[in-house]
Amino acid sequence: MCGIVGYVGQKDCAPILVEGLRRLEYRGYDSAGLAVHTGRGVEIVRAVGKLSNLDAALKKNPLSGTTGIGHTRWATHGRPSEANAHPHVAGHVAVVHNGIIENHVQLRRDLESRGVKLQSDTDTEIVAHLIDEAMRQGRTRLSEAVRTALGHVRGAYAIAVVSGDAPDEIVVAKQDSPLVLGIGENENFAASDIPAILAHTRDIILLHDGEMAVLTASHVEISTLEGTRITREHKRIDWSPMQAEKGGYKHFMLKEIHEQPRAIEDTLRGRVDLPNADVVGAEIGLSAELAQRVSRVYFVACGTSAHSAMAGRYWVEQLARIPSTLEIGSEVRTRDPVFVPNDLVVAVSQSGETLDTLAAVKAAKAAGAHVLAVTNVVDSAIARASDGALYTHAGPEIGVASTKCFTSQLAALLMLAIYMGRRRGTLDTDGAHRVLDALWRVPAQMREVLARGEDIKAIAKKYLRTRDMLFLGRGTEFPVALEGALKLKEISYIHAEGYAAGEMKHGPIALIDEDMPVVVVCPRDNQYDKTFSNMEEVKAREGQLIAVCTEGDEDVRALCFSDAAPRSSTRGILSAAEPDVITIPEAANEVQPLLTVLPLQLLAYYMADLKGTDVDQPRNLAKTVTVE
Ligand code: F6R
Repeated sequence: MCGIVGYVGQKDCAPILVEGLRRLEYRGYDSAGLAVHTGRGVEIVRAVGKLSNLDAALKKNPLSGTTGIGHTRWATHGRPSEANAHPHVAGHVAVVHNGIIENHVQLRRDLESRGVKLQSDTDTEIVAHLIDEAMRQGRTRLSEAVRTALGHVRGAYAIAVVSGDAPDEIVVAKQDSPLVLGIGENENFAASDIPAILAHTRDIILLHDGEMAVLTASHVEISTLEGTRITREHKRIDWSPMQAEKGGYKHFMLKEIHEQPRAIEDTLRGRVDLPNADVVGAEIGLSAELAQRVSRVYFVACGTSAHSAMAGRYWVEQLARIPSTLEIGSEVRTRDPVFVPNDLVVAVSQSGETLDTLAAVKAAKAAGAHVLAVTNVVDSAIARASDGALYTHAGPEIGVASTKCFTSQLAALLMLAIYMGRRRGTLDTDGAHRVLDALWRVPAQMREVLARGEDIKAIAKKYLRTRDMLFLGRGTEFPVALEGALKLKEISYIHAEGYAAGEMKHGPIALIDEDMPVVVVCPRDNQYDKTFSNMEEVKAREGQLIAVCTEGDEDVRALCFSDAAPRSSTRGILSAAEPDVITIPEAANEVQPLLTVLPLQLLAYYMADLKGTDVDQPRNLAKTVTVE
C-alpha cells in the first residue's frame, strides 16, 4: 500500500504534491519522491525515510513546474532505498505506482533479454520501461503507450505517468488499487485517496477498475483500457479532512477492520497458483529443498502475532505433517531453548521490530537454525536478521490493536503450510486445491461478515456493563478465541480470557454464572460436536452465550435462546429474547479462522467505542514494542 498524487494546472506543483503526500503518509512512509516537468524535461527528487527527508532534498534541489506526480512508499518489492523509491524513470517517462505487479519476474526477464538495464528491485520500474518502449515503438500519445504497456501487466495497480514528450498532461490508470480524480478550476488532480486533494477541491471522480484517464489543466478524459470513452459526473465530498483520512470511518481501527478483504487479496496476489494447486515458491522465502529437509517448525512471536503463529503451527502439522511448536518471544529469551540445524524458525511480527521476537531470531540463528520472517514491513529488523522473508501485504496499520495484519498473517501462514505440504508430498493436488480455492474465496466472504456490523453493535450494547468475558474455541478456533479476548481487553479495558474450549472444565467453568458472558467460536468444523457440548455446559450454568457459528446453524441458535423472560442480572446484563449469534458463511475448516475473528474484532471495537475509550491509541500500549 503506497500513496500516489498527481497535479496538472497553473500553480507550482511541488508544494501541492508534497502536501498531498503528507495526507497519504498513513498509506506508507519508507521513502518518497516527486517527478516534475521543469521545462528541461521531467526531473525527479527522491529520499529514503519520512517526508521530511523529501522536503530537505527538495530544498537542495528545488523542482519548479506545473505538472508533476509524487509517491510515498510502503515497500512490497525491494528494500526501502533511494533506488527503489518512486518515481521510476525510463527514457523520458516517469511512473509512480501503488499495487503489486504479479508477473513482474517474467516481465523483468523479458526486458533484460531485450537489453534493458533495470536500476531498482521494484516491479514499478518495469512498467516505466514498458511505457518507454511503447513510445519508442511509435505510440506517439502517452496514453496510447500506457495502454499498450498495461496490456502486458497482470496484477494490481494505480499508476500516474508523466513524460517529457507530453509536458502538460498526466496519464493515470487503475486496476484493483484505489485512484480518485479531483476536478478543479484550471487544474486537475489524481490521488490514491481523497485527503490528498481535499484542500484544493471537493469535486471528485472515482476511477473504476480497468479504466484510465488523461488529465490536463482544463480536461479530464476517461476511457477503458480498451479505448472506449466514458463520461462520468463528479461527486461532491463533504467530509472533514480528518474524516477523509479515516475513509469516512470513525476510527482507523474500524477502517482497518474493513480493509481486511483487500489486505488478504494483496497478500494472496501472485502467490496462489490455483491451476497447479500450489503456492509460488519464489514468494515464500523458503527453498523447496529446505521445505523438504526441515525436521521441526518452531514459531516465535508475541501478542496478536503469537495467535496467528498458533494457527500456523496447527496448519503446518495438519497439512505438512511436520512437528511444530510455538514459543512466545520473551520466553525464548528467558529459557535457553535448544535449536537444532534442521529447525525452521518462523518469526511472526507485523512490525518486524519487536525486540523479544528479534532476540529469539538472533538466538535461533546463533544456534544454526534457519529463520523465516513473516512480517508486514520489508527490510525491517526481523526481516534483515532472518534468512528469508514472507511478506504480508496489509499496508501500514495505524490502530494500535492489530486487525488486518493478523488476518494477513493467517493467510501467509496457511500458504506456507500448503507450500511445505506440497513439497513434502503430504498434501495432494485435490487437497491443496480445496484449501487454496477456499482461501481465494475468503475476501468475498469477509465482506459478507463485515456487512453484519450493526447486528454485532447491538450485541455489544447489551454487554457494555460486563466486567469479565470468556472466549472459547477449539483447534484453529482456539487462537481466534485468544485473539478475541486480547482485542476486547486491549481497547475496552474489560477483563477477558481466551481458553481452549476443552480446558473449560479444568478451571474456568467455576466462573460461570448469569453474569458471565461466554463467547464461543463454534463454526461447523471437525471440532463442532465437542464445542457444542461446551456451550451446553455454559448454558446449564446460566452463562450468557454469544456464539460465532456457520450460517443456517439452527442448533446453535436454539441453544443460545434464553428460556427466561428478559431480565436484569446484578451487572445489568439483559438476557434477551433474540439470541446473540453471529454467523459466517460456509467455508473449509482451514480458512474459517480468517472469518470467525471478524465478529470478535467488531465486538471489541463496538464495546470500546460505546464505552468511549481511545480505540486507536489504547492506554499504556504502543504499536511497536522495542523494549523488553
Ligand atoms: C495487539 C498487538 C500486539 C502485537 C505484539 C507483537 O493488538 O498488536 O499484541 O501483536 O506487540 O507485535 P509485532 O507483531 O509487531 O511483533
